[in-house]
Amino acid sequence: MKNIKTLSAFVILTAVIIVSVSSFASNNKVKTTKAGDISFVIPHDDPAAAKFPEGAKIFQQKCVPCHQVTGLGIPGAFPPLKNSDYLLADKKRAVKQVLNGSNHEITVNGQKYNVPMPPQVDNYQDAVNVINYVLNAWGNNGGTVTVDEVKDIKIVR
Ligand code: HEC
Repeated sequence: MKNIKTLSAFVILTAVIIVSVSSFASNNKVKTTKAGDISFVIPHDDPAAAKFPEGAKIFQQKCVPCHQVTGLGIPGAFPPLKNSDYLLADKKRAVKQVLNGSNHEITVNGQKYNVPMPPQVDNYQDAVNVINYVLNAWGNNGGTVTVDEVKDIKIVR
């Protein structure tokens, strides 16, 4: 009798665990892809990632350590991309930023930054993809830019 009780308690517990794990998995569906050796995860509730998946991928791989997943950067060191007046003022300059990097003082939302940013991508398509993502991520409403509009930028390596 005691054994049957223990067994049924065990069966119920196992069932509860299975149900909660599977509902956790289905509530947290994420699109997971693989590029090279780096796995990355695009949150299912990020409309900019759904619209610009290639750009989101590049952002996850290259930009997150400095500008953060939130796009808020690190105050005083890495400027924000979310609501950045500097980014939103000039799409072409933003494309140039990821192609060639920069190393001069800039002012973003009233705060001065003067840490160099190394070049991040080596071709127009990747640059346009990632900039279109950041122009529209985190509630940014920055429009889009095309390769045609930026292909006169000289890529300096
Ligand atoms: C090693 C850290 C680092 C990485 C990686 C990095 N950035 Fe930056 N980013 C910076 C810094 C520092 C500045 C300010 C540069 C300056 O003062 O010249 C900056 C400036 C910018 C700006 C202009 C300022 C603003 O906030 O609007 C944009 C746009 C930008 N980065 C986009 C990107 C994108 C997109 C990526 C990924 C493809 C990226 N950055 C990767 C450090 C980084």
